Amino acid sequence: MNENTVYQRYLAYLYNKKSKSQATTMAETSGEILYTSMSQLIPLMKIKDDDVVVDLGSGMGQVVLQLFLLTNAKEIIGIEIIPSQYELALLALSRCRKDLPALFADRQVTFLQGSFFYVPFTQANVIFLNSVCFTQEMLLKLVVLLNTMTNLRMVLSTRPLYGLKLRLKKITKIECSWDSALCYCYET
Ligand SMILES: C[S@@+](CC[C@H](N)C(=O)[O-])C[C@H]1O[C@@H](n2cnc3c(N)ncnc32)[C@H](O)[C@@H]1O
Repeated sequence: MNENTVYQRYLAYLYNKKSKSQATTMAETSGEILYTSMSQLIPLMKIKDDDVVVDLGSGMGQVVLQLFLLTNAKEIIGIEIIPSQYELALLALSRCRKDLPALFADRQVTFLQGSFFYVPFTQANVIFLNSVCFTQEMLLKLVVLLNTMTNLRMVLSTRPLYGLKLRLKKITKIECSWDSALCYCYET
């Protein structure tokens, strides 16, 4: 069994008990990118040891933990607006820290609760956003925010980000828990 399959089974075990979404708007809708699709995207991210990766709208934190397990990025950050989803991410993180302490020796996973419009993440240089449920207004606001980040080298989004300063390099099909989607990969 290879490392990818081992971690896929481990995360399936970690997230066995899922919560009901307490979304208040369409954007705050829970839904996940499938492990296999994220595994497809990770090589496109070309993550290096000194990268800081952020998942904007991290839900229960599966993407963040998958990025932690399958890359060497020095820090992976997840920002989630729904408190109950954030709490589940913290729970999964504490179990992961207990199960695999050696992996946390010189690398970090951080979950932050709040809106990514208010929680700063300027230290990140690689950004992932499963943005299928984000409104056009949110996406436009995000583009303005991302365009101020001088160290940004890659953005992967499941909705196109019109006006983003990075160049669109690839569009790839992925599978999410509710349906297929496209992922738009932007690079410097
Ligand atoms: C489709 S889910 C993606 C979950 C995870 N990133 C994945 O791909 O599996 C989108 C998440 O974004 C969160 N969200 C929506 N608006 C947000 C905001 N302004 N700030 C932070 N999170 C937000 C939602 O609550 C939801 O958990």
